[in-house]
Amino acid sequence: MARTGKVTVVGAGFYGSTTAQRLAEYDLFDEVVLTDIIEGRPEGLALDMNQSRPVEGFETKVTGQTTGPGGEGYEAIAGSGIVIITAGLARKPGMSRMDLIEVNAKIVRNVTENVVKHAPEAVLIVVSNPLDEMTALTAKASGFGPQRVMGQAGMLDTARFSYFVAERLGVPVSSVRTLTLGSHGDTMVPVPSACSADGKPLADLLPAAEINALVERTRGGGGEIVGLLKTGSAYYAPSAAAARMARAVAEDAGTVLPVCAWVDGQYGISGVYLGVEAEIGAAGVRRVVERDLTDSELAALREAAGAVRAKQADVAGL
Ligand code: LAC
Repeated sequence: MARTGKVTVVGAGFYGSTTAQRLAEYDLFDEVVLTDIIEGRPEGLALDMNQSRPVEGFETKVTGQTTGPGGEGYEAIAGSGIVIITAGLARKPGMSRMDLIEVNAKIVRNVTENVVKHAPEAVLIVVSNPLDEMTALTAKASGFGPQRVMGQAGMLDTARFSYFVAERLGVPVSSVRTLTLGSHGDTMVPVPSACSADGKPLADLLPAAEINALVERTRGGGGEIVGLLKTGSAYYAPSAAAARMARAVAEDAGTVLPVCAWVDGQYGISGVYLGVEAEIGAAGVRRVVERDLTDSELAALREAAGAVRAKQADVAGL
């Protein structure tokens, strides 16, 4: 099998390291680079992942690299076609994603400046929280066209929603389709008209109150896990989502995925990074895909856009 390309994951916490592991196990890339500011951590994790190669049978090489705030070590990411930014703090119990905005804005801005110096051709996938704001900040700090910067949230929220529906109905997850748009947070917009199980509309299978309860659990899905873990936040489902997005870019797949993308006119919404469906290819977002929404879904999406736009304007100055 021909392996090509190099992908970098910035941040070797649980989210970043599991993302790197998933990318390496795809056995699709020449090299996966994992960086962190904690001396030795990325090198140690990379060594450990490389030692799993004979067992799991993949040849993608994993490189770990400690970086400094002045950009030391970033040479290792040169030539990356995709950079996934996981840098920043995760929530602690009781915190909202928004509580991280000031500290993570500084970290994400610094990382972005170093990334663009060394990987000026890369597509950037942001996962740091608060997600929609950090994606907007990365786009601004990078100076890249908005197609080349996107955030991961919709795939995760959709996956959580699908899992809850499958569990409730006692059916395989593969038979369930769900969709959430909007923000990765309070203004997450579930799209019941796009939800089905075994091809039947979800609304025909469950009473509205039960669907609403599953939506609420999805909206608080990250917080539920933070509450259980007590230190750190979720990473298995988040990393699965981020790695799949990177794969769609690497394969120039044209897959339509729910992502945080720059919206410019679709749904009558403009000038905001928002959770929407988008066709993903080698250049990043090929286009935002507009679907038919019910009046109430459209109203909720526009409301979410308003809330997120205001926060994104704040973050530009951080
Ligand atoms: C979550 C974090 C990663 O939703 O945003 O679990």
